[in-house]
Amino acid sequence: MARLNLNFDKFSIELEPALVAPEPSDAWRRLGRMGKRVAQVARPPEWPGGGGQSATPYLDALRAYAARDPGRFHVPGHKGGDGADPGLLEAIGEPALRLDIPALTPGIDVGPEPTPFQRAQELAAEAWGAGRTWFLINGASQGNHAAMLALAHAGEAVVVQRNAHSSTIDGLILSGLRPTFVAPELDPELGIAHCLTPDALAAALDRTQGAIGATVVSPTYFGAVADVRALSAVAHERGLPLVVDEAWGAHLAFHEDLPEHALARGADLVISSTHKVVGSLTQSAMLHVAEKPVGIDPDVVDRAVTLVESTSPSSLLLGSLDAARRHAAVDGRRLLEETIGAMAATRAAVREVPGLDVLDERLAGRPGVYDYDPLRLAVDVRGTGATGYELAALLRDLGDINLELFGENVIVAVFGMGERAAKLGVRLVEALRAAGAGLDPARDRGREQFAPPPPWGELAMGPREAFLGPQEVLPAAEAVGRIAAESLAAYPPGVPNVLPGERLTAETLDYVQRALEQGGSLRGASDRRLRTVRVVAE
Ligand SMILES: Cc1ncc(COP(=O)(O)O)c(C=O)c1O
Repeated sequence: MARLNLNFDKFSIELEPALVAPEPSDAWRRLGRMGKRVAQVARPPEWPGGGGQSATPYLDALRAYAARDPGRFHVPGHKGGDGADPGLLEAIGEPALRLDIPALTPGIDVGPEPTPFQRAQELAAEAWGAGRTWFLINGASQGNHAAMLALAHAGEAVVVQRNAHSSTIDGLILSGLRPTFVAPELDPELGIAHCLTPDALAAALDRTQGAIGATVVSPTYFGAVADVRALSAVAHERGLPLVVDEAWGAHLAFHEDLPEHALARGADLVISSTHKVVGSLTQSAMLHVAEKPVGIDPDVVDRAVTLVESTSPSSLLLGSLDAARRHAAVDGRRLLEETIGAMAATRAAVREVPGLDVLDERLAGRPGVYDYDPLRLAVDVRGTGATGYELAALLRDLGDINLELFGENVIVAVFGMGERAAKLGVRLVEALRAAGAGLDPARDRGREQFAPPPPWGELAMGPREAFLGPQEVLPAAEAVGRIAAESLAAYPPGVPNVLPGERLTAETLDYVQRALEQGGSLRGASDRRLRTVRVVAE
């Protein structure tokens, strides 16, 4: 095999070309002056600049590095799998461990620009129609943290949809922003919250002195999509940016029969949980800024993203984002076509099961619902005599059916962009039929069926002050009337029932306790069983 000779003044070494980094770094160039030329390894023909959406520059660069069998005198300590626990090696396989490569590796995310990493983010921005896109390794949660930190550069007051995800509230705590909460439209029949109306947003912005922007959720956990065009017009008329938490909508950009995605409808900063429906690895997500954002400086967003990010981002997560973007951009339309069709058939079959109904496009047009995402199968279970919690447990026992979300009245099954939705739909419907057969629709479900969720407590102080200020821990029963120093968010769906700074009510504590008893979990609380609550010392 041809060898590369490097003659230094005092010694000489030989390297096989495969062992030499693909991109000559400056150091190699300097060495090259003393000795022979460094290896030239051709880049994949479609990169840079070419290949369009079918290229995966970052993933390819990882694979090229792994294929060279490089001397890994760097972290992680498993060294591409050689030092890994045998169980892990067997479970996730050597190819995955070989691709676990640290940041700041020449030819991957440092070196001549655009690096493969930069190029991958550019391709993602192009695919979603963004001005700039960041790959995130701490989920859409990181996107919400960064969004709030970026807004906080402009001032202190922000308008926030009250049923925002708990990560938005964490973003308020981190940034110190003072929220004006706006209630979403509540569905009195189903007992679930939908989106914000433009009028509610306008009123909240107008009563918030010094507002620097607003953040809303669309689609919701249940698939309701907001009128983002009207919401962004409301914000823009006031010269303010609209942030949209589109964690559940990364796929919307890839099929014309789906609701239009937030960037296309005027949003300025969009949080996208790519792993949820498009199918990158869990914990990977993206943050997009519009091409011509109102009131958002991309360089400020960049600082904010860095602040809430590990210095050791997982290349596996990042590589999966590069691949998921290609999958969505190249194959998404065809895959979604199939999935949308299969979901329509599944919906019709669910409706045939006694006691069940499906929340679907009939939702669109209800207050706070502009459109509906058909990839969410939200099933109304009130006619079965069981709660969603009970039905979810039955489905698990009977058919190993594991749902994304279950609440009092509704259960939600999530379908991915490109999975075998027809087959999975049949499996779900069969399990629902079997579960339904053992239920008594006349049974009292133990609670007033249409009871709305308890109203939110009064916001007595800012979330950051309450979270960081003097506090004490009380038994839950003694905490009624006190100001919470922590969030209480029954999961799923993780929408906070109590925020730091809000007064605790008996009804809300009871509601959260009940969710726990039914098998839910609690996020934000220091006592995850809610025996005690951390409150502000008054
Ligand atoms: C609306 C919304 N935003 C943000 C998130 C956080 O996403 P991730 O789990 O990717 O951090 C979720 C998670 O369920 C969500 O529902």
